[in-house]
Amino acid sequence: MQDLAAPPHCRYFEAGVCRSCTFIETPIDAQLRVKQERCAELLPGIPAAAWLAPVSGGVAGFRNRAKLAVGGVAGAVTLGILDRGGAGIDLTECLIHEPEIQAVIPALAGFVNASGLAPYSVPRRRGELKYVHVTVSPAGELMVRFVVRSEQGLGVIRARVDELRELLPQAAVISVNLLPEHKAVLEGDREEPLVGSALAMELGEGLAPVTLYLRPQSFFQTNTRVALALYEQAATWVDGVGPASLWDLYCGVGGFALFTARSGAGTQRDVLGVELSEQAIRSAERSAAEAGIPARFLAGDATEFALAAAPDDLPEFVVVNPPRRGIGETLADWLEGSGIAHVIYSSCNPESLARDLERMPSFVVREARLFDMFPHTGHLEVAVLLERRA
Ligand SMILES: C[S@@+](CC[C@H](N)C(=O)[O-])C[C@H]1O[C@@H](n2cnc3c(N)ncnc32)[C@H](O)[C@@H]1O
Repeated sequence: MQDLAAPPHCRYFEAGVCRSCTFIETPIDAQLRVKQERCAELLPGIPAAAWLAPVSGGVAGFRNRAKLAVGGVAGAVTLGILDRGGAGIDLTECLIHEPEIQAVIPALAGFVNASGLAPYSVPRRRGELKYVHVTVSPAGELMVRFVVRSEQGLGVIRARVDELRELLPQAAVISVNLLPEHKAVLEGDREEPLVGSALAMELGEGLAPVTLYLRPQSFFQTNTRVALALYEQAATWVDGVGPASLWDLYCGVGGFALFTARSGAGTQRDVLGVELSEQAIRSAERSAAEAGIPARFLAGDATEFALAAAPDDLPEFVVVNPPRRGIGETLADWLEGSGIAHVIYSSCNPESLARDLERMPSFVVREARLFDMFPHTGHLEVAVLLERRA
């Protein structure tokens, strides 16, 4: 285990104004132990010896994305969270965000104040600006997104975009998201790009990093260092088996597909990623083309894709990394009956993972690993390497 350091001091937690990091006062090694025990309890079929040492997510500065709720009043906004009454709580110094995010929050608040945009008031259902989302790349570039209620908010940000670019030259992507409804969600369907289209997330060091392209509405793992460890673990597991063909289902912008295809380059490994979001697929294709990685990508529903495949087209290896709900009964049953010999299941929800694995009794867990993608919270990522019983 890494990062045995004492817990960091969070002044917002200590003052009782933000309790999002429920376990921030628990040393990180104890947090990892509790998460590991929870995984072992939920997944009793995994022998103790199969668990590799957990990958720590760090104690501070690990989150690549801030979702800042806008509170206060026009000209004097807060960026952070809202209390139960809808009043804004400023979290400028929230220590879980990567330092480049912390550094720009005051400038963003200044920009919003100068714009005169009124924060959206949840209890009064009035106002315009709901959230500011900021994502940082490993190179320190930013994606900044404003979530507004109406065209008026869009117009104000659009008119001031040059000012924002001057203020934040590292903002490679700036966009506005429209969320007209009074809903407890972080963003709406419509995105208006103002600057750039994708944030380059360069993963890995040395001669051959892989650059993933994050677009405003695509999913990206929130802890960049842990994401890299996860993709590298998957590539190691896949290389240990050496399959000629692999599907990466729920591939997002392509992390698993690109890393496993790259590690198999020079062999006959045929890798195909499948993902619902067409934008994410375009990003994955761009990454593959730029890095010369022989992986293909397809937009579609993972379960429908698998069920429609002809028996001769099935791969030797499947990676699945679904949303919290898991892969569900249909895909789990299909994998169980497919004859496919190896599966990696990477999950952000050990409950749905346990449920899905129960429907796949032909597989045994060869190795498993906890990835602490969300330190100081009860959330975790867990990946398992499954092998069909002989
Ligand atoms: C947990 S994310 C994993 C993404 C990717 N593997 C990664 O490492 O970034 C789950 C992904 O599944 C996609 N998704 C959701 N439902 C899907 C479905 N029915 N079929 C295919 N992809 C789906 C989401 O758009 C999201 O990109």
